[in-house]
Amino acid sequence: MSEHLDVDACRRQFPGLARLVAGRPAAFLDGPGGSQVPQSVIDAVSDCLAHRNANDGGAFATSREAGGVVQAARGAVAELLGAADPGEVVFGLNMTTLTFALSRALARTWRPGDEVVVTRLDHDANVTPWVLAAADAGATVRYLDVDPSDCTLRLDSLAALLNDRTRLVAVGLASNAVGTVNPVRAVAAAARRVGALVFVDAVHAVPHRPVDVVELGADFLACSPYKFFGPHLGVVWGRRDLLDRLPVYKVRPAPDSGPGRWMTGTPSFEGIAGTHAAVDYLSSLGGGGDRRAALASAYAAIRAHEDALSAQFLRGLARLPAWRVWGVADPDRVADRVSTFGLTHRTKPAAEVAAAFAARGLFVWSGNFYAAGLIETLGLAPAGMLRIGFLHYNTSEEVARTLDALADIGD
Ligand SMILES: Cc1ncc(COP(=O)(O)O)c(C=O)c1O
Repeated sequence: MSEHLDVDACRRQFPGLARLVAGRPAAFLDGPGGSQVPQSVIDAVSDCLAHRNANDGGAFATSREAGGVVQAARGAVAELLGAADPGEVVFGLNMTTLTFALSRALARTWRPGDEVVVTRLDHDANVTPWVLAAADAGATVRYLDVDPSDCTLRLDSLAALLNDRTRLVAVGLASNAVGTVNPVRAVAAAARRVGALVFVDAVHAVPHRPVDVVELGADFLACSPYKFFGPHLGVVWGRRDLLDRLPVYKVRPAPDSGPGRWMTGTPSFEGIAGTHAAVDYLSSLGGGGDRRAALASAYAAIRAHEDALSAQFLRGLARLPAWRVWGVADPDRVADRVSTFGLTHRTKPAAEVAAAFAARGLFVWSGNFYAAGLIETLGLAPAGMLRIGFLHYNTSEEVARTLDALADIGD
């Protein structure tokens, strides 16, 4: 498979997608909350539990193999993220927990009067850890605003938020609520000019877009394998010099350098094995060449398919005036978004619609999806939005079915 995505062939690899609801196929439009997993990931998790089940660091076979699982997965994830050094990849319970650990460590290097910048668009896991860390250090938090008309970041106001006291800029690559793709390279370049570190939340981007930590200009980047066809786990990539030197909270005798400093307690070896398999699955969607090349063509194929689904969905929504799309709504601007849509109905609360959809086998979310700052900024709290997400395994028929269901909600 290359450039063109064989969606049927992809779907056959995901046992979960075969589910029926009241005799009809379920439509998994809940990808932004977590994707389904291919059989290869299930097999990798089960193989690890069946045959490599030990803690690492011992001399015996299963322990050595458990250590090998982690090493190999670091290599695969480093390639996924464009990192040269597998020793820059940290696995943990989830992105939120890893970000709290990092924020606590960074806060120990901040002083009263220092500043951090967060956005009003991000998932709260890329906001509150920094707000609390800033409070601990006596640092000031500055907020990059969002333009409510299309839910893009107000890049023009960034320069005014940055100065020589800025220690960190935390920004998301793609919004998990409304799908906006943010100009992270420009944000990172501006942060770098004042000597600030850059933390990128790529959790919502990785299922949709290629990531390159070097090209982005990131110092740290987080993602979550359970959003990109892997098991429930979190990943942080960090520049090696920072991972080695930041004063992380750790127990004795955890390593003094490398990613092991950040991996408190016993990791989920089976989750890490499944994460490796998830990267292999993504690469398998691309053409030949080394893994980076395969990933590049895989993402090109994923993107072409998802962009077509997005354009179809937005064109259909334009004929449903009772629904409002928050975020980029112009079908000619699908390059500025991923295929995740936040919608509100003129009168019907999102939770009511989500329940009606569930009965029809359409799996969607309602609420704020932890993008609390955005939902407040848009004046949509507490009901929030209906969120419909398309991943590469979703089909044009599912988009049409979703549009029919939205139309059936009426005016
Ligand atoms: C954009 C974004 N950031 C962060 C998170 C939190 O990730 P985790 O569940 O791994 O803590 C999510 C989860 O939905 C997310 O969508």
